Amino acid sequence: MRFEVVTLFPELIASHMSFSIMKRANDSGIIDVITHNPRNYTLDKHKKVDDTPYGGGAGMVLMPQPYVDCYNSILKTKNSITLMMTPQGEPFSDKLSDELSSYQQIIILCGHYEGFDERIRDIIKPREISIGDYVLTGGELPALCIIDSISRKIEGTLGKIESAHDDSFTEGLLEYPQYTKPRIYQGLKVPEVLLNGNHKMIEEFRFQQKLLRTKNKRPDLYEKYINKDNPSAT
Ligand code: ADE
Repeated sequence: MRFEVVTLFPELIASHMSFSIMKRANDSGIIDVITHNPRNYTLDKHKKVDDTPYGGGAGMVLMPQPYVDCYNSILKTKNSITLMMTPQGEPFSDKLSDELSSYQQIIILCGHYEGFDERIRDIIKPREISIGDYVLTGGELPALCIIDSISRKIEGTLGKIESAHDDSFTEGLLEYPQYTKPRIYQGLKVPEVLLNGNHKMIEEFRFQQKLLRTKNKRPDLYEKYINKDNPSAT
């Protein structure tokens, strides 16, 4: 999987790729994260990438020429999709992450300042994605959320011990509670059922905990789950 990120701040992307699971996936070639900086495509001697909005208003707007030229310099592979990070986009979710994980190349457009000149959208026609109903200072953090989430779904990124199988959301439920050593901490005990080695009982306990947690913490997801094809969960 190749991620190509169009960004004015490539260091923000590189920084996340230098640690832990993402570093391992990048080093081993399971994923490849490349950045492209529109500032290198300006025709202006001051390397200007933004300007004030026509019609007035606060902030600066990303100019179309450096951005579009930068995008056009990226070699597109056959199975490629282009995403734009914007609070106006469709909400990102585990389902969308699954869908995107089937692409060979994902090009991600990050904005900064007040936003993109509308002609960047008109020309590139990206799929617009939001990571939530709030506004961040730029698209790099949303891009990293998406890269991280999709990468976890790619065979080989997670080791056996970090399996994505039991993740929250994979079947529409939150994850069950986890415990490790010691057995008792500040008087709080690890549930007995997890210590007895009966895998069937452990599985049932964990499933019930998933239901309970989802019902308490995310009643919206719980309703969806039981109304879908799991009425026996009630
Ligand atoms: N850029 C700024 N805020 C954003 C958001 N919530 N989602 C995606 N891109 C953004």
